[in-house]
Amino acid sequence: MTGILNLTNISLPIATVLDEQLEEVSLILERQLASDLSAVNTLCQHIEQYQGKRLRPMLVLLSGLAAGQAPWDGSGLTHKHRVVAAVVELIHLATLVHDDVLDEAQIRRRVVTLNHLRGNETAVMLGDYLISNAFHLCSSIMEPAINLTLGEITNTLCAGELLQLHHRDDYDIDETTYFEIVRRKTASLIGECCRLGAMLSNDDVTVSEAMGRFGTQLGIAFQIQDDLLDITGDENIVGKSLGKDLDAGKLTLPLIRCLAVADESQRAEVVALIAKRDADQLRRRLIACGSVEKTREQATQLVEDAKTELGFLDQGPARELLRSLADAVISRQF
Ligand code: IPE
Ligand code: IPE
Ligand code: MG
Ligand code: MG
Repeated sequence: MTGILNLTNISLPIATVLDEQLEEVSLILERQLASDLSAVNTLCQHIEQYQGKRLRPMLVLLSGLAAGQAPWDGSGLTHKHRVVAAVVELIHLATLVHDDVLDEAQIRRRVVTLNHLRGNETAVMLGDYLISNAFHLCSSIMEPAINLTLGEITNTLCAGELLQLHHRDDYDIDETTYFEIVRRKTASLIGECCRLGAMLSNDDVTVSEAMGRFGTQLGIAFQIQDDLLDITGDENIVGKSLGKDLDAGKLTLPLIRCLAVADESQRAEVVALIAKRDADQLRRRLIACGSVEKTREQATQLVEDAKTELGFLDQGPARELLRSLADAVISRQF
């Protein structure tokens, strides 16, 4: 089974441990979403059919392993780690189902989106079903502090999406606002995956806080790479509808940078291309003005900064796998 890291191709015991733990997380998810109504089950099966990269559950489990103690054979991971891993994937999935409604996307995880297949009403309700299941499942482990923080994070994420909507077709949006949106809509949840995974294994707050910072920086880099793929990626490889940021009037870092350095006439040309939703011309322009390359460099730097936080962990295979995962966040093409 693949993910952001292809675990079956990594011949290390820790990769097998992680793969087995992820299988258990999938079973928890399946059990949680099972309904007595076949109409509901059919919809859930549609979205469960193809898994995504499983970045967030992987980060919970791997942070839990890495913040724990040797031997890193999985015995240090508890039911709580696996439930939290399932909960964050459910929160993520709910936001994707709703995001596809906002973006009018047709393909997600290589299959047709629910909004395209069954309409927006069904997709909106299924997103609600997923988010309520996330918090119902989370409550089962009797850790009110985790419920509270994941509630806060979900609020932050939704507020980030709302801020992004507020700046739709705003050609004056600056980098600070872009990073504010990204920090909220993507990095907050990814940071919390790492912090909670570590916290469930290690009482030392210094370690879990460092893992939170690791995940937050990684999450920003992850969204920057996602935004780059939306402009330069191949839909068959990425497995989801691309060009949606431009279609939805969302200006992302390469475009914001290009506009920031453009003179008046260049700016007018770029704005005209955005208004026409001319993705091909814009892509050429963004590559030519160097902003695609600069954006890549910035994501690389964020990953390097994130990796320094791993110094708070004991040396071991789980820490090394986290390092590889961090690199995969920006080298990925899907
Ligand atoms: C997509 O997330 C939404 C973003 C935050 C960029 P992923 O790229 O992790 O989606 P899946 O889970 O692999 O489908
Ligand atoms: C969405 O960002 C992030 C979420 C919190 C759902 P994008 O709009 O870039 O995600 P994709 O590209 O559709 O997966
Ligand atoms: Mg989207
Ligand atoms: Mg995107």
